[in-house]
Amino acid sequence: MKIILTGGTGFIGRPLVNQLVAKGYSVVLLTRNPSGIKETKGAVEAHYWDGRSNGPWAAALEGADAVINLAGEPIAAKRWTLKQKERIISSRVDAAYAIVNAIRSCEHKPKVLINASAVGYYGNVDDGDIDESHDRGKGFLAQTCDLWEQAAAQAESMGIRTVYLRIGVVLERGGGAIEKMILPFRLFAGGPLGSGKQWFPWIHRDDMIGIVLYSLENTSVRGPVNATAPGPVTMKGFCSALGKVMRRPSWAPVPGFILRLMLGEMSEMLLDGQKVIPEKITKAGYQFKYPDIRSALKVIFKG
Ligand SMILES: NC(=O)c1ccc[n+]([C@@H]2O[C@H](COP(=O)([O-])OP(=O)(O)OC[C@H]3O[C@@H](n4cnc5c(N)ncnc54)[C@H](OP(=O)(O)O)[C@@H]3O)[C@@H](O)[C@H]2O)c1
Repeated sequence: MKIILTGGTGFIGRPLVNQLVAKGYSVVLLTRNPSGIKETKGAVEAHYWDGRSNGPWAAALEGADAVINLAGEPIAAKRWTLKQKERIISSRVDAAYAIVNAIRSCEHKPKVLINASAVGYYGNVDDGDIDESHDRGKGFLAQTCDLWEQAAAQAESMGIRTVYLRIGVVLERGGGAIEKMILPFRLFAGGPLGSGKQWFPWIHRDDMIGIVLYSLENTSVRGPVNATAPGPVTMKGFCSALGKVMRRPSWAPVPGFILRLMLGEMSEMLLDGQKVIPEKITKAGYQFKYPDIRSALKVIFKG
């Protein structure tokens, strides 16, 4: 079976490629830098795309079984200036439109589109479980996710099973939030950000990849799917668990106003939260490898 993958060079994409190949799929990567791709026993090929316009890459979708679209400018790499916010939105929305336009041109269309989105869709919600039926929230991330999902939804109107993965904070070494959070803990200066009461919807990267594969292989999975662990914690709970596993105290909170001064609007990412529950994927039968934060952090920091 042939899978088209964008963002396959990223933090989630790289191990996903290995898993797909191990399961016997052939993978076609759409990337801005195809020369950087190492072949994996001929099961991976790479095509250039710019993430927004049509091109020769679109022919690769003909007869493919599935498209997984993870592409997007990193959210936390730079301060959210107007220009950077525009890049964050357009790198996602334009990529999703480019994909659905390529699908439209196919005679033999893929059966499923799995599109990344994020829990930021729900905005800031102080309390109460949030399943996939919860309304969209306010703020820049909510708006971005909404536009991103609307673009991917064009595939649904062509009769293609479409899954929007509302991804939480993905945890594993070598990238993502953990690498940014561990330094203050190493220096004995770790602690919760803001009040610490905000919810911190997290997921171990193995489960993230597990949910992508489960969504690919189970035709009952469609529409928005929360990709978060079933054991959500508050920011304070997360920092305390991180401190324990790193054998460091979690005692030095960073007040919200400092984060707002340092990061500007980007502080929304750290100070807002939602108690997201993976209702749909759990009901569909997905079994989490790391349902609680202690087991996830223990394996991440082992050795
Ligand atoms: N990691 C998380 O905690 C998390 C949480 C919620 C949602 N998500 C979403 O899940 C997706 C994958 O996450 P990730 O952590 O694997 O992301 P990542 O490591 O930043 O990788 C994203 C990929 O997108 C492509 N890309 C980057 N900037 C781009 C641009 N300006 N235009 C077009 N393509 C661009 C790159 O591929 P090429 O260089 O090969 O083109 C890159 O490998 C992202 O869209 C992210 O927003 C992630």
